[in-house]
Amino acid sequence: MIKACIFDLDGVIVDTAKYHYMAWKRLADQLNIPFNEKDNERLKGVSRMKSLEIILDLGSLNLNQEEKEELAKKKNNWYIQYISKMDKSELLPGVEEFIKNLKRKGIKVAIASASKNTKLILKRLNLEDTFDAVIDGTMISNAKPNPEIFLRASDYLNLKPEECVVFEDAVAGVQAAKKAGMKVVGVGEEEVLKGADKVIKNFENVDLTLIEGI
Ligand code: BG6
Ligand code: MG
Repeated sequence: MIKACIFDLDGVIVDTAKYHYMAWKRLADQLNIPFNEKDNERLKGVSRMKSLEIILDLGSLNLNQEEKEELAKKKNNWYIQYISKMDKSELLPGVEEFIKNLKRKGIKVAIASASKNTKLILKRLNLEDTFDAVIDGTMISNAKPNPEIFLRASDYLNLKPEECVVFEDAVAGVQAAKKAGMKVVGVGEEEVLKGADKVIKNFENVDLTLIEGI
């Protein structure tokens, strides 16, 4: 029986992908590296440093660790500027209602996000007291597709992996949840999120029958 839903944050709860893209694009332009929205798809669910490395690879640019840290910091400062203006209107359609329904039924809710800005984003959205567990990029050593982040969440909730359903928009996230032994609902396109048990476009008109008998 499902006792908890574990949500990825970026692309599942809120549409932050466009702000990540704006900040990475600004950096790529400064470095004269060609970077477009299609390239940006590869950064989904991937850590900040790994994202930077993908961009540097596109420009065949080799930098040392210190230089990379500097650029990652620059991008993050821009990103924080962009998201500091964000509000509840940028929540994905239907997600808040879905979470409320879960809580009414006594199903636990958690966040498991690679983002080190998770707490800031939840605050901007007035959701900082909503979740029973929040595991973020500051608390883990292995990025998705490693299952660590999801197992930390189920541990924190004192539940078995098979009692949890994960909601993910990234392929690496779907793989991580499967490795953790959890059920997965993909949020996005079916062709992309092939390994998921079910796929939804967003949370509009989605009720709890979605996770019953998954
Ligand atoms: C993930 C996003 O949730 O968090 C990635 O999908 C992002 O695009 C990663 O790179 C790390 O985020 P942050 O906020 O710590 O730079
Ligand atoms: Mg995501």
